[in-house]
Order: sequence, then structure tokens, then C-alpha cells
Amino acid sequence: MSENPYLSGNFAPVEGELTASDLRVTGTIPRELEGRLLRIGPNPVAPEPGTHHWFLGSGMVHGVRLRGGRAEWYRRRFVRDDEVAAAKNWPEVPGPRPEFQLAGGVANTHVIAHAGRTLALVEGGNYPVELGYELETLTRSNFGGSYAGGFSAHPKRDPESGELHAAVYSPVRDELQVVVVGVDGRVRRAQDVRLPGKPMVHDCALTSRYFVVLDLPVTFDPANVADGIPLPYRWNPAYGARVGLLPREGRAEEIVWCEVEPCFVFHAMNAYDAPDGRVVLDVVRHPKMFASDFRGPNEGAPSLERWTLDPHGGSAREERLDDRGQEFPRHDERLVGKPYRYGYTTAFGDRLTFGGLLKHDLRDGKSETHDEGPARLFLEPVFVPRTPDAAEDDGWILAYLYDAAAGRSDVAILHAQDFSAAPVATIHLPARVPFGFHGSWIPDPLGAPPAR
Ligand SMILES: [Fe+2]
Repeated sequence: MSENPYLSGNFAPVEGELTASDLRVTGTIPRELEGRLLRIGPNPVAPEPGTHHWFLGSGMVHGVRLRGGRAEWYRRRFVRDDEVAAAKNWPEVPGPRPEFQLAGGVANTHVIAHAGRTLALVEGGNYPVELGYELETLTRSNFGGSYAGGFSAHPKRDPESGELHAAVYSPVRDELQVVVVGVDGRVRRAQDVRLPGKPMVHDCALTSRYFVVLDLPVTFDPANVADGIPLPYRWNPAYGARVGLLPREGRAEEIVWCEVEPCFVFHAMNAYDAPDGRVVLDVVRHPKMFASDFRGPNEGAPSLERWTLDPHGGSAREERLDDRGQEFPRHDERLVGKPYRYGYTTAFGDRLTFGGLLKHDLRDGKSETHDEGPARLFLEPVFVPRTPDAAEDDGWILAYLYDAAAGRSDVAILHAQDFSAAPVATIHLPARVPFGFHGSWIPDPLGAPPAR
């Protein structure tokens, strides 16, 4: 088998944990930014080169703490799972265990804060892993014993209620569950939704009226494991492709399904209810997934699309907004589920190539780029508003990037409204941050956690 691309270049894992203080900065860090910029990705401890799958490597969380215009620290820590604990001879991760654990309880896909806790997240049945302020692993969490079913890496926080809405699935369950986590950190609703098969459901979307379910043709295939493919999901175009609109507090039989062309979507950018009652859903669309390359998203460049869904007729209108390869869509999360104008993505070509950042003005159909040359490869952009009530796009874009020439990483802070300009600050990290998945800006104070 050819060299595993997920173990070379900046996909390769870094060795061990690291702490650095008082980071060197070019430019001026806005003093309003007080908190932690966290991101997470795979950092396998003992990968098998022939079969290693990018999605399954043990998690490592990276963080930069900002305060008073200074970058106080950079830390990287394993998100401990059974594999890390065994390899490092560390104690097992405390906390409950789910009925089924994928890859030793790995949590490598997103890191968020909710109900006063910092949580490392993954899909497929594993529980979230709670991290301390300095990113140490504390415990697996089943939301205070309120939920048995694992979780998702992409819950959507309703900006009105503060609740998290997520689509939860696992290869050992026949139903998808639509789960709502209250502001107290406990699951208050879990609605079973029966699908025709067992699809991979990486993301979801929310509007004021609907929870949006992605039922797309990458489905559970246990034959993969016998074929030496550790992730048991495969392209299955005969399955069809559809998007479900579930009324927010509704029952499964109330879902309206809208057929779309077969494709795969890891990430929705956002969704909202249009004045005419239809639902606008913006997605990054991959033409196919895990059809010929079972190790990762590498089968044609993903493009930005708008799907307009009719909850009355069950129809969908698909429209391409931007055909440049891009992924990791983000927006101003104060507007989750609401009409919005701006979205931000990172360049992501069809050969695992990262690049600059893109900013989309979805109202006027315009875009801008932020490009620092072919050696400076940006990861997911995170928008932070300048103040809690600042206008949309009035704030900063924070992004980790890999400098291939220097062999290490920086954090860039851009003024969102001067997107193409040089960063207002660049924070120089002592090491590289591997290409990974997602992250969050978690402002201080995090708040007192409720009782576990
Ligand atoms: Fe994701």
C-alpha cells in the first residue's frame, strides 16, 4: 500500500505533550480577547501505517491562552483514551463507559464549552471527554448520567435558549437520536428517528422551526473491517440522499424529507427559515466519500452549496455558491439557525491540500480571500465578535495555520472586516499543530461547572 498520507507532512502526529509560556507575537493582540483558542485533531500514538485512518487517531487538544494583549501560554495535551493510556502507561480515563466504544473511546473531532465545562467531542457512540482549564483529561461524561447514547462532534447551540441540539448515531444503534442538552448540561430530550439504514451523520443544522437531519449515502458496512479498513462506513449511492426537517419539539413521524442529489456533507455552514416558509441550508458538498479512498476526504474538491428545502412539497433546490475547494465552514454563532450574511471557510482541494481562508458575503454573492502564500496553510477559521452585541462580522477571525517553510505553526488574528489585510496579530507557536478538525474560542470566565 502507498505511504499513508495521514502519517506524513503536517498530518503526521507530534511527539508528546508540550507547554510554552509568553509566546512571541508580531502585531497587537486585541485586549478584548481574553480566553482560550482551542482546537483538536488526531494524534495517534502507535498508528499502523497500512490501515491508519485519519478519523480514528487518538485526540490531541491544542490551546493558546490570551489575556491583556499577551499570549500567555500554548499547551498541547492528549485527550486520553484507552489507547493513549495503554501506550503511555497512564491511568485509565475515569468516568462512565458507553455500551459501545469506537477506537478505545477516542475523542478527536471538536472541542467546545457547555454548562461550565470544556468538552472534547466525537461521533459514533463515544462519550465526550471533559478537559480541565489547562487541557488535562478529567473524565468521560454522560451528561451527569442523563444520557446513555454517546454524542456528536457538531451540536448546534440555539442562541436564544443556550441549549445544544445534536444528531447522535452509532453503528450499534438502529435509530438516529435527535438530542437536546439543556443549559444545566443534562440531556432533556432524545427523539428517536428511524432511517432506512445506518448512515454516517457527522453534522446537523438548526433553524427557528426545524432540526435538520442529513441522511446521505455513506453507510455502515461491517465488511470494511474484514477488508482491513478500520472505519466501517462506505459510499453507498443506492441508499439515496435526503434532508429531513423535524419540527424542533416534534415527533419522528412529523419529519418532512427532501430528496437531494447523492453526495456527502460533513459540514453545514448554517440554516434558517426563509420568510416564505422554506428552509435555507448552506453546506459544503463533497461529490462522494469513501468510494475509492477509505482513509479520508479525498475524492473530489468540496464546494459551497445552498439547498432550499420546501417543508410542504418535500422538494429541494440545489445551487452552487462557490466551486472552489473549501471546507470547515464557520459563521457568527450568535446567528445559528437565523438569517445570516457572512460565512468563513478554509481552502481544501481535492488532494488534501489546505491553503488560505475564504470569506463569503452570501447576501451580495461576493467573496474575499486571506492568503499568506503557498507555505502558510490555514486550518478552520473561528469568528469572535468584538463585543457581545457587535454587528455580524464586526470582530476577529482566529485561525491556527501551518507554516510549511518553518515547520511550525502560528495563530493568526484577522480583522474580519479587513479580511485580506495582514493579520492584526500573529502568535508564533514553538511547534507545529497537525492538520486536524475543529475548535472554539472559549472566552473567560468559563463559569462554575454544575455538579457532575
Ligand atoms: Fe466536522
